[in-house]
Amino acid sequence: MRMRAAVLEEFGQPLEVQEVDLEAPHAGEVLVRLVACGVCHTDMYTASGADPSGYAPAVLGHEGAGVVEAIGEGVTLLEPGDHVVTLFSPQCGECVHCRSPKTNLCLAIREEQNRGHLPDGTTRLSRGGEPIRHFMGTSTFAEYAVLPEIALASVSREAPLDRACLFACRLSTGLGAAMFTARVEPGSTCVVFGAGMVGLGAVAGCRLQGAERIVCVDLSEERLALASGQGATDVMIGGPDTVAHVLEMTGGFGADYTFEATGIVAVMRQAVEAARMGWGLCTVAGVAGKGETLDIVPRLLITGRRVAGSSFGGVKGRDQVPQLVDRYLAGDIDVEPFISHHLALEEVNRGFELMEAQDGIRSVIHFDTQGAT
Ligand SMILES: NC(=O)c1ccc[n+]([C@@H]2O[C@H](COP(=O)([O-])OP(=O)(O)OC[C@H]3O[C@@H](n4cnc5c(N)ncnc54)[C@H](O)[C@@H]3O)[C@@H](O)[C@H]2O)c1
Ligand SMILES: [Zn+2]
Ligand SMILES: [Zn+2]
Repeated sequence: MRMRAAVLEEFGQPLEVQEVDLEAPHAGEVLVRLVACGVCHTDMYTASGADPSGYAPAVLGHEGAGVVEAIGEGVTLLEPGDHVVTLFSPQCGECVHCRSPKTNLCLAIREEQNRGHLPDGTTRLSRGGEPIRHFMGTSTFAEYAVLPEIALASVSREAPLDRACLFACRLSTGLGAAMFTARVEPGSTCVVFGAGMVGLGAVAGCRLQGAERIVCVDLSEERLALASGQGATDVMIGGPDTVAHVLEMTGGFGADYTFEATGIVAVMRQAVEAARMGWGLCTVAGVAGKGETLDIVPRLLITGRRVAGSSFGGVKGRDQVPQLVDRYLAGDIDVEPFISHHLALEEVNRGFELMEAQDGIRSVIHFDTQGAT
């Protein structure tokens, strides 16, 4: 079939919305009609050429939500009409990691996915017979996408898809960091560094876990106001004195749980140092630049602080994204404040500009309308 898609032709250049070809799903694959897709920093980072593992031409986009149109041979997990959220972090359910409750890092399709291929090593996307690669195994800046069935979470049909798409990436990453990686205990004190969508999700996750005190640290007053809306009990402008302030607020001990959601290694260090002696757990969700390292004074670890990394919030996508969407439907997660702009696919580059200007948290592309709503 032919469809419109935003193609990364050349690094550092705007994406080009154009007609491309999409082949029908092969065995184990599913054709999805996209309804909505978030525009994320990761798309912009790859488009800029700064990501050393990027490739072109490719159809970008990885925060998609839509409806299953058709299924390939042997697909058992989904059927046409199902509402789905795309998973750049899939869940095969069978590999040694999927069988362990300790991690969400599915091993099934990693290598081909990193090359921009579907699991059989080929692409369904092409133009004039030349293959176009699938970004993050998702390629959702397009009217349709073909994905492996293990890379789709089947969510409630009651969830509006332009809200559900937020659960495809950073919102679940933040929520999951608190709920599944750190497993925050009721009554705890938590500090979240960064109030982008990951940090705001972590604030909401701490609240859902019953934390008593949730401190959010950012450089932007506007973002800290959003953090208060998600359940932060205290907010703070970040700086060199942040750790001292946290220690002051906690009787000199530090917080039970800290979360880092900035990607800045100096802030990661602060998050470790703000964690409580004895049992403080620092969860690092931010992605640092290639080659950067995190400095930790070993004594902090000997005296009982722990550090954990969290990819996609430790969320096992097919099982737990639907659960998070259900909590949204139950009124436990307020996603409205995250959506700042509605765009048509043709305006995808404007989504990047808005992100660069830190204007709002998320732009959402709508595929069923020709213009912004
Ligand atoms: N672990 C994962 O699976 C995963 C998934 C998605 C994103 N991420 C990473 O999470 C991080 C956050 O993503 P985001 O979308 O929320 O980013 P964002 O850029 O929207 O937010 C980062 C926030 O950090 C704040 N900040 C900057 N310096 C600070 C300081 N010194 N103290 C406190 N706050 C400071 C900024 O003001 C900004 O609001 C990024 O590094 C991103 O790459 C990780
Ligand atoms: Zn993303
Ligand atoms: Zn697996």
